[in-house]
Amino acid sequence: MAAGLSSLAIYLVFSIGILLHSYPNIAAQARIFDPNRKDNLALYWGQNSFGVTHAGMLGQEALEDYCQNDSADILLLSFLNVFNAASAGGVPGLDFAETCKTTFPNTTLLHCPQIAKGIKYCQKQGKIVLLSLGGAAGSYGFASEDEARQFADKLWDMFMGGSADLRPFDDAVVDGVDLDIEGGQSTGYVTLVGRLREKFKQVPDRRFYVTAAPQCPFPDGYLGSVIDSAHLDMVFVQFYNNWCSALSYPSQFNFDDWDNWARDRSLNPDVKVYFGLPGSTTAARSGYIDPTELARIIPDVRSKYPSFGGVSMWDASQGASNKIGDKSYTQHVADILRANGDTAEPAQPEDTSKVPKGDGETAESTQIGIDEPTTPNPTNPSFTTPSSTAPTPSIKDDGAAPETTAVKSTGGRGHGHDHSQHKHHCCHRGRDE
Ligand SMILES: *[C@@H]1O[C@H](CO)[C@@H](O)[C@H](O)[C@H]1NC(C)=O
Ligand SMILES: *[C@@H]1O[C@H](CO)[C@@H](O)[C@H](O)[C@H]1NC(C)=O
Repeated sequence: MAAGLSSLAIYLVFSIGILLHSYPNIAAQARIFDPNRKDNLALYWGQNSFGVTHAGMLGQEALEDYCQNDSADILLLSFLNVFNAASAGGVPGLDFAETCKTTFPNTTLLHCPQIAKGIKYCQKQGKIVLLSLGGAAGSYGFASEDEARQFADKLWDMFMGGSADLRPFDDAVVDGVDLDIEGGQSTGYVTLVGRLREKFKQVPDRRFYVTAAPQCPFPDGYLGSVIDSAHLDMVFVQFYNNWCSALSYPSQFNFDDWDNWARDRSLNPDVKVYFGLPGSTTAARSGYIDPTELARIIPDVRSKYPSFGGVSMWDASQGASNKIGDKSYTQHVADILRANGDTAEPAQPEDTSKVPKGDGETAESTQIGIDEPTTPNPTNPSFTTPSSTAPTPSIKDDGAAPETTAVKSTGGRGHGHDHSQHKHHCCHRGRDE
């Protein structure tokens, strides 16, 4: 009996060893996105920042490439940068650099079956894929709450659980939207989020998300009060290009402002704050932190701030192309986040986020991109106000003109050459500045 047991044990150990050896992916693909963890990595994808900043080089690989291993948990498709919210028949403008150039017949709407395949592939790997709205260049905003509500319906029908004749990603369903609002006014964004959350309830067994990407100066110049009134699941705070970036860690680095906001002011007290970083020195004007420094900073920040959810990076192409030693920057960041095994937070009482805690109608955001540290509200030259919103003079600005805000500047890149390729670049575009 004893002998029998031990040979059984030996046999089991041996078999399991073979199994693991033969199927390394069993272990490698174990991560399933969990919003309560504190070691998640979110990658912006779509603008090919590396290619834009390195003439003649192609940096952006297919979406699938960034989902083949466990490094990333969240992929943010950037961007839907033209709302066309006012015209009932108006179609949104999308831009994914050279990854998708085809349109539906007789329309300006992109049709991207390849990206649709990538979305499904990534979701199968346990990751979530969000559609990022806005960006540094484009034409977006709302003239009224009603317009925002209708636009939410359009987003739901064209990209999520609803249905529409023309769906850019066909039957692929994105897991929600990200607000990277860097221009225009904040009118309507809270309504947009509230309406989306009502729509989410139509598919009760699936969780959808709404996130935002403010810059680190608090409160954010564009999103400001919007993020107080909208139920957000995560904020990808850009801790770069500004005085409060991680370069000034620990002195002026202001993760504490965001952690306080998350716990005391956010409509969703469980909202997670992500540490937004550039993927290389060419991804932003300033704020790049090398892996050695990061290995010192991340564990400290995570241990101090309960709302810490992980890292967000601009962008996927930069992080993968930036090789340090034998690993990409992306992989270094993932490894640092997951070192020590400290990762998940105790599960929350019950996924409060599954049921959107009523945010009525609000939510919103405005955002920002990145701008120079000293310019709180720089104007974004690449942003035009949609004509539809023109009739409503804004308030936050000056005048009747549509306003513009935004900005990540331009850093230089992104403007210029092939206009079609660069027009949305700036910030969360070529170089996130
Ligand atoms: C596109 O427009 C052309 C010219 O008006 C028309 O002949 C054609 O049928 C349209 N195609 C589709 C798919 O609507
Ligand atoms: C995982 O994929 C990312 C994105 O392509 C890459 O940067 C990273 O180096 C990969 N990690 C490994 C261990 O291959």
